[in-house]
Amino acid sequence: MKNPWLHRYCILLASATLLMVIVGSLVATSGIVKAHRTLGMTVGTITIGLVVLLWLWEPRRWLRWLGVAALLLVIGQGVLGSVSLRLGLPPAVRILHALLAQFFFGVTALLVLFTSSVWRQQPLSIRDSGWPTLRQLAILTPIAVLLQAMLGAAYRHGLAGVLPHVLSAMAVSLLILMLAVIVLTQHAGAAPLKRPAKTLLILVLHQLPLGVLAYYLRISSYEGSWLSLLAAAVVAAHVAVGALLMGWSAASAAQIWKHTRPASSF
Ligand code: HEM
Repeated sequence: MKNPWLHRYCILLASATLLMVIVGSLVATSGIVKAHRTLGMTVGTITIGLVVLLWLWEPRRWLRWLGVAALLLVIGQGVLGSVSLRLGLPPAVRILHALLAQFFFGVTALLVLFTSSVWRQQPLSIRDSGWPTLRQLAILTPIAVLLQAMLGAAYRHGLAGVLPHVLSAMAVSLLILMLAVIVLTQHAGAAPLKRPAKTLLILVLHQLPLGVLAYYLRISSYEGSWLSLLAAAVVAAHVAVGALLMGWSAASAAQIWKHTRPASSF
């Protein structure tokens, strides 16, 4: 790792973003808009700082531009958030806002990976054969997780029923299961692939029961009881694990693409 401070700073940005996503999920449940706005401004300020640090310290040009892209995203997110408030929180804008938040968290996870010592390891050149290939699964997984978050937001804001979100959860789980099975049975000796695959599996195994519990609490009537607090905590945990799945699947995709090569290139 050339500059450990840059990496630590990216971890700070990713952690603040995760906190913002969690607080964002509580805005819909408890109306804590002010805390969410303050956190949003903090994340924006940390991102500006990151761009400055990247342009001062980071020799990789593409990484400096990834920092700029992150800044543009966070600005867009801020604009969208205030437009949403001014328009009286229309569902479509809120869904886009939730989607961008998850996407932004994915970008911060990539920044953490790219500034880490793990990323500086030499590529392993693992042969990626079979169907589907690991590379295909690695790309499809974060896309499916993002779609899943969009369907979750559509359900939460009343634009869709819960069924599309549940069906899509099955697709996400299947993709992660396939990815984990291939890695753990065929490339168990490759540490840079094994750890991400195992973590994705653990995350999705927690996410499914959290989702079911969130749904059960949502359809139960518990007005004013302590169960409403439990419901808010479960939804916050479900959204947080959703974001972790987003970040982890994006970082896993980068690791898999780095350490594998298509069978045709051997
Ligand atoms: C891979 C699996 C899953 C992922 C990644 C995921 C992700 C998400 C995300 C990110 C949200 C919040 C969207 C927003 O920002 O508003 C959400 C909401 C929700 N999800 Fe899931 N989900 C998964 C599986 C499930 C399952 C199996 C259920 C079971 C019914 C479920 C039930 C819900 C409910 C009820 C909400 C709305 C919570 C509320 O606001 O009350 N999810 N999901």
